[in-house]
Amino acid sequence: MSVFSRLFRSRPRSEWLPSRRGLNTRLILLFTVLTMVLTGSVIILWEKVLRPPFYQWVERRYPGPANAVTRDRIEQRTEHFFISMTVDLVVVSILLAIVDRNQRRLAEANEQLAHNEKIATLGRVAAQVAHEVRNPLAGLLLYSEHLKGRLDGTLAPADAQLIDKIIATINNLTATTEQILNYARPVTLAPKKVDLNEVAPDVVQLLSTEISSHNIETKLELHGSPVTGMLDEAAIRAVTLNLVLNAVQAMSSGGQLSIATRKTGDKLCMEIKDTGPGMTPERIKQIFEPFNTTKARGLGLGMPYAQKIIHRHGGKIRVDSEPGKGTHVKIELPADAHPH
Ligand SMILES: Nc1ncnc2c1ncn2[C@@H]1O[C@H](COP(=O)(O)OP(=O)(O)OP(=O)(O)O)[C@@H](O)[C@H]1O
Ligand SMILES: [Mg+2]
Repeated sequence: MSVFSRLFRSRPRSEWLPSRRGLNTRLILLFTVLTMVLTGSVIILWEKVLRPPFYQWVERRYPGPANAVTRDRIEQRTEHFFISMTVDLVVVSILLAIVDRNQRRLAEANEQLAHNEKIATLGRVAAQVAHEVRNPLAGLLLYSEHLKGRLDGTLAPADAQLIDKIIATINNLTATTEQILNYARPVTLAPKKVDLNEVAPDVVQLLSTEISSHNIETKLELHGSPVTGMLDEAAIRAVTLNLVLNAVQAMSSGGQLSIATRKTGDKLCMEIKDTGPGMTPERIKQIFEPFNTTKARGLGLGMPYAQKIIHRHGGKIRVDSEPGKGTHVKIELPADAHPH
């Protein structure tokens, strides 16, 4: 680690990450001050300490009016030497600052790479586990339903409820493994004509129970004409469901959900807005990382899945959010999607 990095060591490493791009104001300020101090020190050293005895020495060595030109030349050369030394110091300081900044960028890139690898490994392990438990879960469901059928009418209500709970738990686990596998498996798009003006209200209808139980007011602003494109219908419906569900879950004590669709040229657009608690910039940076959730029962796969599907269609997804103000998710899709 260079001397300049050491100067900033008191701050934890992770706090560097948000300022990865752009100028490092602290570093620029430090080098400005350092350069000014160095220049000042060199000037004071020369003017107050070195120059008087040096000029006296030159006077003694080359005395009298006959040596005036020689004295002048020697004094001028020495002044030039000090000026160039000051310039050198400034240039070297700037070069060191650049080297140090590049070193830090490299270290940050390596850190990001290691982080991405860790996430990829986590995804692979989760997918493997999900794959391994899928068949035994299907077996368990079959046995439980068989048992329920065989004991039907002979069980006390409390015992029958117990078997229903076992079946419900198995179904939940199956849904979780399916979600993990859905995220992990490679996506093969099957594009067909899809109208976002139909997808949006269908999803709202599907979530109507949650929407009304959370006291959420829904506003649908659908484009006047169909917002149609060649898309993978199942995948786009799943993405919309994930995004709207996130908005609904964010407004547990009520709020307003707005969904708008638009077609501009060959671009399809859908915007989902909520008036929930919003997110900090740090949180927004993490939402596309798999298994990154703040919910007790969340998997943290909704947003990464949405991003994967949208990118596969050659589209874009953007999240704007502010704590206390709500969240705005915008997806943009090409009308004629070619798998990417
Ligand atoms: N509209 C939103 N408002 C506030 N926070 C949000 C919103 N959408 C996403 N988030 C945050 O992003 C995190 C990741 O979302 P994501 O959909 O990937 O996972 P999840 O909802 O936690 O779990 P699941 O896998 O069930 O979707 C959430 O846990 C939440 O903290
Ligand atoms: Mg979610």
